[in-house]
Amino acid sequence: MYTRPRRNRKSQAIRLHAQETRLHTSQLIYPIFLFDGKDKKIEVKSLPGNYRWSLDRLIPEIEACMELGIYTFVLFPAVDESLKDKIASYSYAEENFYLHAIRTLKEKFPECCIMTDVAMDPYSSDGHDGYVENGQILNDKTLPILSKMAVAQAQAGADILGPSDMMDGRIAHMRDALDMEGFTNVSIMSYTAKYASGFYGPFRDALDSAPKAGDKKTYQMNPANKREALIEADLDIAEGADYLMVKPALPYLDVIHMLKTNYDIPISAYNVSGECAMLIAACQNGWLDFEKVMPEMLLSIHRAGADVILTYFAKAYAEMVKAGKIQY
Ligand code: PBG
Repeated sequence: MYTRPRRNRKSQAIRLHAQETRLHTSQLIYPIFLFDGKDKKIEVKSLPGNYRWSLDRLIPEIEACMELGIYTFVLFPAVDESLKDKIASYSYAEENFYLHAIRTLKEKFPECCIMTDVAMDPYSSDGHDGYVENGQILNDKTLPILSKMAVAQAQAGADILGPSDMMDGRIAHMRDALDMEGFTNVSIMSYTAKYASGFYGPFRDALDSAPKAGDKKTYQMNPANKREALIEADLDIAEGADYLMVKPALPYLDVIHMLKTNYDIPISAYNVSGECAMLIAACQNGWLDFEKVMPEMLLSIHRAGADVILTYFAKAYAEMVKAGKIQY
């Protein structure tokens, strides 16, 4: 035998030479659930270790994460039912606590990178990402609402906007609205291939944002489809997206890989709430070892082609790196 692949696995030093992918803490984006109020931090039951935060409690948490090397946070608002309406008007209201939080965080931590969610569901009395009329989700009536929300978030100081709604034409609509208001430097991370997935359960628990009627299959993609993601990606590129996202991540590694091979802008993947919840549950039962499987899972998403990963494990990963349990 002249070739013995095992030689390149013989020690940690050599394994690190031969290592093909490395996932750095700076590639992680940490999702955070925010709600209005003071001195509150309430655990999401279906996603242990994750909380809904009031802003005052969140500030030291952001600081701690930044010390660990996490710089980007994606914020999601849990909105009181009484503030929801058909047109998601609270999403761009002057007194919106979410916009206030963005402003405060950017003032306190100018070097942190704040990403938002652009979709109607957290603010909609119908619980859908778009405008609902007679049980239909109306694409073109949704676009101006999304653009208003986008401009309000940009005004608050957001660095990256994350349209997660899957309406057709929304990237161009938002880009035009942003540019017209002078926000040419605000980035858009498009949820390009967002699937109608069963893995969003804990997230909808956290925000109380589940659809009141029907499901999201007329706008989110069919899990059986892969080539359709190319159509979405072509549109997003043409409409000015700065990143393309695949969501969820683990059940769609092939889609991540396909986008990485076909496009030259950064590819992101959202390791969604349900993916994290099932791993946490197995670890809590003693069936899996968290410190082994969590980094393996994130590495697989990176290996498939994601440059950036949105994950509820961002802090846990960063802590393991800091403790020397993960070597790059
Ligand atoms: C909704 C939105 C969802 C997630 C992010 N933005 C849920 C949905 O489409 O119903 C899910 C994220 C997760 O499960 O972690 N605009």
